[in-house]
Amino acid sequence: MSSKIGIIGSGIVGQTLANGFIKHSYQVTIGTNTASKRDELRAKTNGQAMVGTFEDAAQFGEVVVLATKGIAAEAALNAAGPRNLAGKTVIDTSNPIADAPPVNGVLQYFTPQNESLMERLQKAAPDARFVKAFSCIGNAYMVDPDFNGQKPTMFICGNNDQSKAEVRTILEQFGHDVADMGTIESARAIEPLCVLWCIPGLRGGGWNHAFKLLRK
Ligand SMILES: NC(=O)c1ccc[n+]([C@@H]2O[C@H](COP(=O)([O-])OP(=O)(O)OC[C@H]3O[C@@H](n4cnc5c(N)ncnc54)[C@H](OP(=O)(O)O)[C@@H]3O)[C@@H](O)[C@H]2O)c1
Repeated sequence: MSSKIGIIGSGIVGQTLANGFIKHSYQVTIGTNTASKRDELRAKTNGQAMVGTFEDAAQFGEVVVLATKGIAAEAALNAAGPRNLAGKTVIDTSNPIADAPPVNGVLQYFTPQNESLMERLQKAAPDARFVKAFSCIGNAYMVDPDFNGQKPTMFICGNNDQSKAEVRTILEQFGHDVADMGTIESARAIEPLCVLWCIPGLRGGGWNHAFKLLRK
C-alpha cells in the first residue's frame, strides 16, 4: 500500500484531504501554484504536511490527488508534469464547473454531456492512472463522515483496476461505501452528481447531505 500522497491543489478540498490522509497515517506533500500560500498551508495542516509546488506534490506522491478548480485542472496537470504522474494512481476530485453563475441553483459545466473533464485530463497525461473520487460529496464529509452510522456512497470510475482497488482501500479507510461505476467514460455520469449535490445548498436548503446507493 502506498504511503506517500501528493496533493495538487491548495483549496478546501486539498486541505481537507491532506488532513484526512495525515489522520490516517499517510505522509503528505500539498502543492500550491501560489508561493505566498505556503505558510498558511503549513498552519492549516498543523505543520504536518510538507508544502511545495504542484510539481513537488506530483513527484512526492506514490498516489497523487488532483484537487484544483476544474477550469484550471489541465494547466495544473501540465505544471505538475505528466511525466511525474506516469504509472501512478491519480485521484481526480475535480468538477468542470464553468465560471458562469448557477441558474436557479443549477451549476453550469464547461464540458458537454458526452464528455467529461477526467477524459480530457487522461488525454493530457496518458500514462497516469486516473480514478474519479471525492467529486460527489462536500468537503465536510470527505473524511470520516458521520451520518448516524450510515456510510455515504462514493462513486468511482477509471480504466485501471489496480488503481481503483487502491482508491477503494483509501475510501473505505475514510468511511465511505464505494460504488465502482466502471471505465473512464462513467465520469460523464459521476461529475454531474456535483450539480445535483449542490442544488439544495445553492437554493438555501443546506449542505448536510450525501448520496446513498441502495442495493438488494
Ligand atoms: N469544495 C468542495 O466541497 C468540493 C467537493 C467536491 C469536489 N470539489 C472539486 O474539487 C476541486 C477543488 O475544489 P476547492 O473547493 O478545494 O477549490 P478551488 O478553488 O476549486 O481550487 C483551488 C485550487 O485550484 C488552483 N487554481 C485555481 N485557478 C488556477 C489557475 N488559473 N491555474 C492554476 N491553478 C489554479 C488553486 O491554485 P493555488 O494553489 O495557486 O491557489 C488551488 O490549488 C474543484 O474542481 C471542485 O469542483 C470541491
